[in-house]
Amino acid sequence: MKTILITGGAGFIGSHVVRLFVNKYPEYHIVNLDNLTYAGNLENLIDVSQAKNYSFVKGDICNNGFISELFAKYNFDGVIHLAAESHVDRSIEDPNSFINTNIIGTLNLLQNAKNKWQDQNGKLFYHISTDEVYGSLGETGYFTEETPYDPRSPYSASKASSDHLVRAFYHTYGLPVVISNCSNNYGPNQFPEKLIPLVINNIKNNKPLPIYGDGKYTRDWLYVVDHANAIDKVFHEGKTGETYNIGGNNEWKNIDLVTKMCDIMDKMLGLPEGKNRSLITFVKDRPGHDKRYAIDASKIKNELAWEPSIKTDEGLELTIRWYLDNASWLDNVTSGSYKEYYTKHYSK
Ligand code: NAD
Ligand code: DAU
Repeated sequence: MKTILITGGAGFIGSHVVRLFVNKYPEYHIVNLDNLTYAGNLENLIDVSQAKNYSFVKGDICNNGFISELFAKYNFDGVIHLAAESHVDRSIEDPNSFINTNIIGTLNLLQNAKNKWQDQNGKLFYHISTDEVYGSLGETGYFTEETPYDPRSPYSASKASSDHLVRAFYHTYGLPVVISNCSNNYGPNQFPEKLIPLVINNIKNNKPLPIYGDGKYTRDWLYVVDHANAIDKVFHEGKTGETYNIGGNNEWKNIDLVTKMCDIMDKMLGLPEGKNRSLITFVKDRPGHDKRYAIDASKIKNELAWEPSIKTDEGLELTIRWYLDNASWLDNVTSGSYKEYYTKHYSK
């Protein structure tokens, strides 16, 4: 039996990866390490929580002593590292936790993997990263794996730094690593600070839909289950030392995406046509807002035969339906500190 450490498994993407691995690989013992920050929620994993091949460990990747003990307790065969502070707006307000978790936390995991795995074959440290490390595109062009790094927010700078550390451990110490850089994910279990779940939650509560700046900023959206499947491919078939870009080939200007969601939700909620569009409100722009992200995912398509499978209409319907059907999940995560964050952020 192989033992795989998944960090950040109680978060949005991590919970989909944990579910996939626990169900698809009964021969793996999946250890989910998560500190359960505001973004981590064990409710996301209720369906696999009793599985024989699954364990949850609460702990902080910034605590090096704790991470050393964990590596001593389990002889991990692989690490899939997703734990991070992930929201750009929070990084603008308070970069410190991003530096700690995304850089120092990653360094702790790398050092322990390096120490523990010396002279052992068949190990892999898989670092999950973002397309934001490449900076911002103009109207045309795509990010490839060769695009120079140009991070522009504290979040993307911290992720870029962690990517560099991962590559440094590969080149300097021979640690077997692989990295993927993915575009914007959406789907069930995403914390409603991010655009898509925030819009769903606000429509549910008849609140304004805040669009930063002119709304013409562009993102490449990928349904989260497609990302989890890509992670499975890269973990099992990716070449050590390589980087793979993952994207949806699915660019949307924010205003067009939100308008589409308004129309879908008018229908789903039996509201008059145009009701939700009237909630759209242009607000102050995000400082340093990256204009456009777009991924060239031809490497993972050609080398690992991965492509996104869920089209936008289907993905949005599945996502909106999930949030409407899981009102208690949304209520639970928006109680407590969320109210304070939302009021502070949107009262400016
Ligand atoms: P998320 O914020 O939903 O989840 C992060 C998880 O990490 C949470 O469960 C949280 O409790 C845990 N965590 C945070 N700090 C920790 C610490 N110090 N110790 C242990 N656990 C800690 O994030 P997400 O959107 O699921 O993103 C997961 C990963 O994927 C991140 O590395 C992110 O940079 C990357 N990524 C995200 C997207 C996206 O669109 N969401 C796209 C590309 C890459
Ligand atoms: O590209 C991958 C990245 O995508 C991930 O690495 C990040 O973890 C993830 O949070 C996401 O970053 P973005 O900043 O692109 O996502 P967010 O959902 O915050 O914003 C999407 C776009 O919508 C962006 O142009 C900002 C805009 N926006 C966002 C919010 C929350 C609004 O116009 N209004 C809003 O209220």
